Amino acid sequence: MSKFIKIDGVEVPFEEGQTIMDAALAADIYIPHLCHRPGLSPHGSCKLCTVDVNGRAVSSCTMPASEGMEIENDTPALKKVRKTITQMLFVEGNHLCPSCEKTGDCTLQAVAYHLDMLDGHFPQFYPRREVDASHSSLVIDRDRCIMCELCVRASREIDGKDVFAISGRGTGRHLIVNSPTGKLGDSDIELDDLAAHICPVGAILIKDHGYEVPIGRRTFDLHSVAETDLEEVILKKSAHHDEGEERDPNEGGVYGV
Ligand code: SF4
Ligand code: FES
Repeated sequence: MSKFIKIDGVEVPFEEGQTIMDAALAADIYIPHLCHRPGLSPHGSCKLCTVDVNGRAVSSCTMPASEGMEIENDTPALKKVRKTITQMLFVEGNHLCPSCEKTGDCTLQAVAYHLDMLDGHFPQFYPRREVDASHSSLVIDRDRCIMCELCVRASREIDGKDVFAISGRGTGRHLIVNSPTGKLGDSDIELDDLAAHICPVGAILIKDHGYEVPIGRRTFDLHSVAETDLEEVILKKSAHHDEGEERDPNEGGVYGV
């Protein structure tokens, strides 16, 4: 017999072992998130997926669903908290959307639109972290990294490698590459690895494909983040690059990297 939780008054079935996020995604209920992807171990770092469970704030991507939970997700108070978190993520990095080649395909930017964020509110940090263009097909711009560790987990858990890690503390935290020189070009990452395509922002980019899809026709230019299957976006991106598939620039969508 199915068990149920309630999200904003709607009964949602879940199976033993599923988190609130798992159950919500399976029911097509959008809970804003950045550091979560199905198939990877939960990380619980961005806190964007915070919901109220029986009056208590919890991260929905790490909290197991249990019978009788009454969950609030889409409320003005939670929207305010999520907007503040998103503003902090923006000012901690150099997320200058109009000059970023990931614009329109960036989940952070799409979440900001979803939350009606109009400015960064807090003083801008302007970090100066190292750019790594040593790989023939990939480039890392660390100033845009939000430390979500999706690439770390994708490399370790799906690709069977251990290419990335986060090092340092506080404002000194940054992405590092596990290779003899610390350069991506000396690592064993390959273009068909999930880690090459999973970055939700413009911190890991594919070379030579940056502006194939014109601005205005990219994933989140056409669909809000709440109605987008992020898994499908990532899979399409990696399939396109794996197969060297020719792309129709008028179709819009997911190839802008
Ligand atoms: S490079 Fe991208 S995927 Fe990796 S930790 Fe930074 S933001 Fe997350
Ligand atoms: S998506 Fe749950 S903490 Fe990041």
